[in-house]
Amino acid sequence: MDVPFEPWSPDFVADPYPAYAELRATGRAHWYGPTRQWLIPHHEDVSALLRDRRLGRTYTHRFTHEEFGRTAPPAAHEPFHTLNDHGLLDLEAADHTRIRRLVSKAFTPRTVENLAPTVRRLAAELVGGLVERGGGDFLAEVAEPLPVAVIAEMLGVPETDEERGMLRPWSADICGMFELNPSEETARRAVRASLDFSAYLRELIARRRKDPGEDLISSLIAVEELTEQEMVSTCVLLLNAGHEATVNTTVNGWWTLLRHPEQLAALRADPDGMLSTAVEELLRYDTPLQMFERWVLDDIEVGGVVIPRGSEVALLFGSANRDPARFSSPDVLDLSRTENPHITFGAGIHYCLGAPLARLELTSMFAEVLRAAPDLRLAAEPRWKPGYVIRGVHELLVEV
Ligand code: HEM
Repeated sequence: MDVPFEPWSPDFVADPYPAYAELRATGRAHWYGPTRQWLIPHHEDVSALLRDRRLGRTYTHRFTHEEFGRTAPPAAHEPFHTLNDHGLLDLEAADHTRIRRLVSKAFTPRTVENLAPTVRRLAAELVGGLVERGGGDFLAEVAEPLPVAVIAEMLGVPETDEERGMLRPWSADICGMFELNPSEETARRAVRASLDFSAYLRELIARRRKDPGEDLISSLIAVEELTEQEMVSTCVLLLNAGHEATVNTTVNGWWTLLRHPEQLAALRADPDGMLSTAVEELLRYDTPLQMFERWVLDDIEVGGVVIPRGSEVALLFGSANRDPARFSSPDVLDLSRTENPHITFGAGIHYCLGAPLARLELTSMFAEVLRAAPDLRLAAEPRWKPGYVIRGVHELLVEV
């Protein structure tokens, strides 16, 4: 039977949810030939596999490519892999624990709370500017600059460095590799961005070694427990992870609200009471990161199907978040939903380190738009970008 999964089809990307319902109804693990992966659509399975140590984001801590029945990536892609493979997210076991312990110090509830005034000020400035202009592209003018500025500030990327304007394009080029079966052209761009981004960070690290500041790079240098490559890779991860999903949650979230005027009206009527459940519901209803992958390091079984070592599973977060076994009326947007165990920030050892910061940024931005732009409306119908894994629109043109 053909699996109803078409990540390269614009119609599927625009609305994958009916296909997910079919996948959930017809099995717990589906073999998908074009990417040679097992698709896992149920909340219970996605949640369990994220916590299961028989799976990993990488296998290279236990096996060579040959032992694992895989081929090494082409030598020309090496700069991308060197960068990606040494960051927190793609490390397992002891290296992951060591780096996560250090980086999490920058994301404690207190540190994040201390950022709140800056985040709120930025949100007010950006939304204020949009209102003054009578509207514009909400994505480029509001949703994107805020998380980029916050994470750049935390890392200590000076505003005066001209490379600061490159953070978003570098990130976009690197993130192209996280889509399914990326093309040679995507790989070429990712390699270029990996080289340029790394060179800039090495130069910035050298500056901070000589002249430390109050930022995260300076504190990572001071503890002397990270190699320079680990530091570069972790900074790139933080810059990318620190804004891609937040931008898409904000924009997809507002588009969802504008398509549900009754829910939006209820939120406008009681923003203080409803905002935190509303943000969680928008994170669940249209999750910005639709899928995460894991390698199977020791045989597992899902729903009676044995998935052997060397396989790859694709955990369908978007589907898990609409699973009727876990959520009542999952296809209904309910901004006052209180029982909402969405999987949008993951689970297990790689659970999103930035979740408290993301929540702060999202609530600040939504609150400010509700307050300062009470008449926000679409000026044009948005179009989905082709990417399925990191799912977002090209732009969100609005009037206020
Ligand atoms: C709405 C916004 C966000 C979403 C939906 C999101 C989602 C996720 C998910 C699902 C993972 C786990 C991936 C996996 O298990 O394979 C993750 C990991 C991570 N996220 Fe986020 N994230 C968001 C915002 C942020 C922000 C703002 C930061 C930092 C400033 C951040 C930093 C990280 C880091 C460092 C990891 C790796 C953690 C580890 O491997 O131990 N994220 N994120």
